Amino acid sequence: MESGRAVTTIRDVARVAGVAVSTVSRVINQSGYVAKDTEAKVKVAMEQLNFQPSGIARGLISRKTGSIGLLVPDVANPFFSDIARGAEDAAIAEGFSLFLCNSDWQLDRERMYLDILRRRWVDGVIVAGTRSSESDLLECIGSLPFVVVDRKATQMGSSVWSNNEVGALLATEHLMSTGCQKIVHIAGPEQSPSATARKTGFLRAMSQRPSQSALQSLLFPGDFRYEGGYHAALSLLNSSAPPDGIFAANDLMAIGVIQAAESLGLHIPQDLAVVGYDNIAMSSYVSPRLTTIDQPGYKMGQAGFEILFQIMHSKTQNLTDQEFEPTLIVRESTRSILLH
Ligand code: RIB
Repeated sequence: MESGRAVTTIRDVARVAGVAVSTVSRVINQSGYVAKDTEAKVKVAMEQLNFQPSGIARGLISRKTGSIGLLVPDVANPFFSDIARGAEDAAIAEGFSLFLCNSDWQLDRERMYLDILRRRWVDGVIVAGTRSSESDLLECIGSLPFVVVDRKATQMGSSVWSNNEVGALLATEHLMSTGCQKIVHIAGPEQSPSATARKTGFLRAMSQRPSQSALQSLLFPGDFRYEGGYHAALSLLNSSAPPDGIFAANDLMAIGVIQAAESLGLHIPQDLAVVGYDNIAMSSYVSPRLTTIDQPGYKMGQAGFEILFQIMHSKTQNLTDQEFEPTLIVRESTRSILLH
């Protein structure tokens, strides 16, 4: 570089060409979509400025494909489509495209997709809501830059998560405060870290009750799906000692509970109070509107990409955690708090 002469940067090229830096980056490394006329403008600006990629630009050039992978367990669940929207909006803004993979809560499919993503050379991967163990995830991901969303990573890289145990405690204590005498938790699928943490939070809250029947009897298996909540509720409500409060581990199951109760002629919340988890948009459309625990899927997806972007450019799988606070959203599916 000649002494005293300012170095032309990728930002100068973007300014002269009138495009985003990420567009110049895509032209340099020939990855991702750039319209022909835009590409021509960028190349003219490079010529005019005699642009030579600096170390930073070369860092951008090092991207293999300009794309990232996002693995979710249930693309039909609005919580995960919110995560996908947030991650994709953040990725597009930085000139990346996003490949969405759906494992349908199947462990073998999680492994299959992670193996495909690793071999297809995406620049990085966001793993959301998986059930695989951390060691299995690390084995499948290999050396790919990655971030996990919806679980707190303990042995591996960076994570974006919300404290599920605290969220479950809030949900259960709310049902207690409204006078429910028999509360049951319909849990999420086995091996789901968020489902396990919610079970723990529920049992922690219930153990505070002096006259507590066997805690395990208050747990009912579920699967995070609408049908799972519906059939679990039919079974519980047709039993000899039905609950008067149900905390479902996610909103889709809670909506199934409401529909099952109403099919049996029960009134919500008078006969049965119901709390869900996620605060998906649908939870405020159903009638009665659902009391739930909010975890902001869109923002979690956005944060997931932003952390991954830093990792891809710093080339270190640094340990960054971003935690979102769970909050109780009270609506008409639960009774008003009893004033003692
Ligand atoms: O609704 C699906 C659930 O699975 C969410 O609560 C999320 O935490 C995921 O783990």
